Amino acid sequence: MTKRLQLFLFILSIVLSACQSKSSKVYTESDINIIPKVESIKITEGVFQFDENTVFIAAVETQKTAVQLLIDKFKEAAGWNLNIKAVSPDSNYVKLTKDESLESETYTIESSVSHVDIKASDASGFLYAVQSLRQLLPIEIESKTIADVDWEIPNVQIKDGPRFKWRGLMLDLSRHFFDKDYILETIDMLALHKLNILHLHLVDDQGWRIEIKKYPKLTEVGSWRVDQEHLPWNSRKDNDPNEKGTYGGFLTQNELKEIVAYAALKGVEVVPEIEMPAHVSSAIAAYPELSCHGNSIAIPSGALWPITDIYCAGKESTFEFLENVLLEVMEIFPSKYIHIGGDEATKTNWETCPFCKKRIKQEGLENVEELQSYFIKRMEKFINSKGKKLIGWDEILEGGLAPDATVMSWRGVRGGIEAAKHGNDAIMSPVGYCYFDYYQGPPELEPQAAGPVTTVSKVYQFEPIVEVLAKEEEKHVLGGQANVWAEHIPTEEHSQYMIFPRLTALSEALWSPKDAKDWDEFSGRLKSIMNRYEYLDINYAKSAFIITSEVEADIESKSVALSLSNEFPVSDIRYVLDDGNINSEAIKFTEPIVVNKTTTIKASLFENDNPTGIVFSEAITFHDGVANKVNYETKYHERYKGTEAFNLVNTLRGTKNFRDGRWQAWLNEDAKFTIDLGEEKSISKVTIGSMVNDRNSIYYPTEISVLVSSDGDNFTEVGNLEMHFEARTEPELKDFVVDFKKQMAKYVKVEAKFSNKGTGIKEVWLFMDEILIN
Ligand code: ACM
Ligand code: ZN
Repeated sequence: MTKRLQLFLFILSIVLSACQSKSSKVYTESDINIIPKVESIKITEGVFQFDENTVFIAAVETQKTAVQLLIDKFKEAAGWNLNIKAVSPDSNYVKLTKDESLESETYTIESSVSHVDIKASDASGFLYAVQSLRQLLPIEIESKTIADVDWEIPNVQIKDGPRFKWRGLMLDLSRHFFDKDYILETIDMLALHKLNILHLHLVDDQGWRIEIKKYPKLTEVGSWRVDQEHLPWNSRKDNDPNEKGTYGGFLTQNELKEIVAYAALKGVEVVPEIEMPAHVSSAIAAYPELSCHGNSIAIPSGALWPITDIYCAGKESTFEFLENVLLEVMEIFPSKYIHIGGDEATKTNWETCPFCKKRIKQEGLENVEELQSYFIKRMEKFINSKGKKLIGWDEILEGGLAPDATVMSWRGVRGGIEAAKHGNDAIMSPVGYCYFDYYQGPPELEPQAAGPVTTVSKVYQFEPIVEVLAKEEEKHVLGGQANVWAEHIPTEEHSQYMIFPRLTALSEALWSPKDAKDWDEFSGRLKSIMNRYEYLDINYAKSAFIITSEVEADIESKSVALSLSNEFPVSDIRYVLDDGNINSEAIKFTEPIVVNKTTTIKASLFENDNPTGIVFSEAITFHDGVANKVNYETKYHERYKGTEAFNLVNTLRGTKNFRDGRWQAWLNEDAKFTIDLGEEKSISKVTIGSMVNDRNSIYYPTEISVLVSSDGDNFTEVGNLEMHFEARTEPELKDFVVDFKKQMAKYVKVEAKFSNKGTGIKEVWLFMDEILIN
């Protein structure tokens, strides 16, 4: 072929490929929905069109592995059998080239009308490039049936790489067991989000989940508990050690090796966690000699607290056992890290155990905290001797940190800061941002979960680098991870629900440049990835769409103003008052709704002029105390401030979730405050809204007094309630009503007390949400 003919054919092919395109869409940055957000992108005119003749040019196995994802996707969604070749044709190809100048995990994509160039220096870089290409394509690329779309991507120049090295997710396989297939699916989703660590929590009190050939009872006994799944986790009863367990499961070594190999192909490292010295009832149930006392114990079917049956730190045989277990673990997991847990050990048995006492004396230790430190340091020496590194939860800082340990900071970021300042590495996984077992929407509308609410937008705000760290300390922060503790998560669907879409927010917090983070912009891409989840059959939570309210009290007008929002900055929220019909009479919410009488507000998100999702409803009970000043004689506790100044008179009622931000609470003291009505009013009733939650040391008051005054100095008691303490198993809400003869008063004082006489109760929280004055 002559040069001229070559050129002619080349131009013809470009013209033809441009003509084939059914759209002539001009792309802008708002069309780019890649999550996590890329470091930099430039969009130029034109598109690259995939068709049945597009070829992938890949020279080595890692590149071929990377493009296989797209080949498989095109097979299903377009019905094409795309090929990998060694040599590029003139056009219509996606070429992967190794570029040693690029850092590990980073990549570039340059697409033009004729071809797509991908460059990276390692396997992960190629994998991430292909994931980005997948997200540049129409979302129908996820379709499992043939879709009729233009398989085009805009012409782009992308340069991208991760901010942090450690971008992880932990699955708790112990509290509820999840099998190999679910783990493999989860790995695919980690890969989609460019997350690179899967931490498997394989050991806990409620089940041992890894086959260890030398100790078969770990799985024969330790993997099975008595089935109490019909009861809430925190209400399950103690088991008899002799009763055979039937609920549970474990992963064989072969299954785990398969998981590790699959993950490696997807750029994910699997890090095993073998808990010690606590959270090991399942191991002790199998081999009672591992504990200090050596007695038979049962595997708990639910909550266990405190955890006192822990490995004996005095007996040499404990260490022999653990080293043998870890030898098998290290055979399965090639990961650089072994996680040894180390959290939440109550060491009372160590204090009295002759073996432990002997160890403390021999080693010249001060106390049981130092004994735990001895334990972890000894395990670290063993792990290091095998060329691996130890990770532990932040409790491993107590009693002295092991020399080379990496701290996984969960009780906030303090542990991570301490580790980094000490020159050790840290992984941030603070409960407030990274615990995906927490609620993600209003608890009354969510399945049972742990803790307070961690919304997807809160996860998005997660920042592993804390200001107090100096530059050279920052480099010790390897990154972060989310943890899916599974106490309340019995099924795969539920697990996905807790993970998605929060994982999406996490991925951006860990991958993208800090200053590129922008919730408003991200929330648009979040909606786009939700469409992808639909195709992928991911059971993601729609909690971010749920409408919630905020109330502001205005002392001047004695009214409250209610704001409605969900997590998306641009939402069509419409509402009606009282008996209004949400379908036909709804008014668009644009500014706070001012309320000065008893009113019910119903609201809904609208899509295409139709209500969608859960209808929000708030009954506002108005009373004479609303929006008045409250003078506190005893101040509410720092931890439960509610909305502060007007919390008790803002009409907003609390839910059974004591962390819902609507409660004020007092710890081990009487609650005493006076409401200043501003002027004398005729009143005859005071209602005190309270809650009980025995498990969290929240009790109803045992005595309530109401006093009134006209001048604020001289008070007369107008009513008094005395209640007997009653233990309750479930949380409950109650309004205590104090009725009295109608009278004029400007000040209303409330005194609520708890008498622990005869109860043995040491810690008492009094919770109040509203004081209604009528
Ligand atoms: C933990 O949540 N106990 C690490
Ligand atoms: Zn002991």
